[in-house]
Amino acid sequence: MATKILPSFILALLFLYGGHSVTFTVQNNCGFTIWPATQTSKGAPITTGFQLASKTQTTLTVPSPWSGRIWARYLCSNSGRFTCLSGDCNSGQIQCNGAGAIPPASLFEITLAGDAGRDFYDISLVDGFNLPILGRPNGPGCVSTSCPADIDRGCPNELAVRGPSGAVIGCRSACDVFKEARYCCTGDYSSPATCTPTNYSQVFKRQCPQAYSYAFDDQSSTFTCPTGGNFVITFCP
Ligand SMILES: *[C@@H]1O[C@H](CO)[C@@H](O)[C@H](O)[C@H]1NC(C)=O
Repeated sequence: MATKILPSFILALLFLYGGHSVTFTVQNNCGFTIWPATQTSKGAPITTGFQLASKTQTTLTVPSPWSGRIWARYLCSNSGRFTCLSGDCNSGQIQCNGAGAIPPASLFEITLAGDAGRDFYDISLVDGFNLPILGRPNGPGCVSTSCPADIDRGCPNELAVRGPSGAVIGCRSACDVFKEARYCCTGDYSSPATCTPTNYSQVFKRQCPQAYSYAFDDQSSTFTCPTGGNFVITFCP
């Protein structure tokens, strides 16, 4: 008897004390196939990678509270081992299985039910840029954040990642390329007061003012919203 009652009792508790879920609708508005990937930092993991054809979308159910990031891989091939020229997580499979993006990759970062029970979200170009991205919460009074520009086009030569055809397919961060403290906000530059914009971070900020362009970019890059709403995440908005 107890074994029958207990599971429903636990389910009722979960229902009463949080444990709800929301949806992330992931849209591919790019003119080519992408393989979105996720990495969970808090909460139950969700799918860690899937294929998404051009002009299609898919909906993920995400538990709350949850914290993690989503990005897109493209120029992928599968000859025994699944690899991508852009945004790869080096898992060798479509699923990233907890691995993060190899820079450069534009990241949409979300915390559901974080501080004060609110959602927090941002676009980060701290690890570079690979595709334009838009994050749109559908809750009342919530605003979207986007990096709509194709930063690959204005990418300084020394930061550019080129594909087989020579076209720029990603723009690395100055930290990733030069490994210098002033670009990485480390050492003598490890506080918001000492780590300030550089001519390289400004390349990103100029084209995508809503996105984080370096580790201590100003607070205008973090957005917040009452929790419980769904999100739409669009690549190549
Ligand atoms: C940034 O400044 C450095 C010198 O501090 C210079 O070598 C580099 O070319 C500049 N890059 C851009 C993109 O302006």
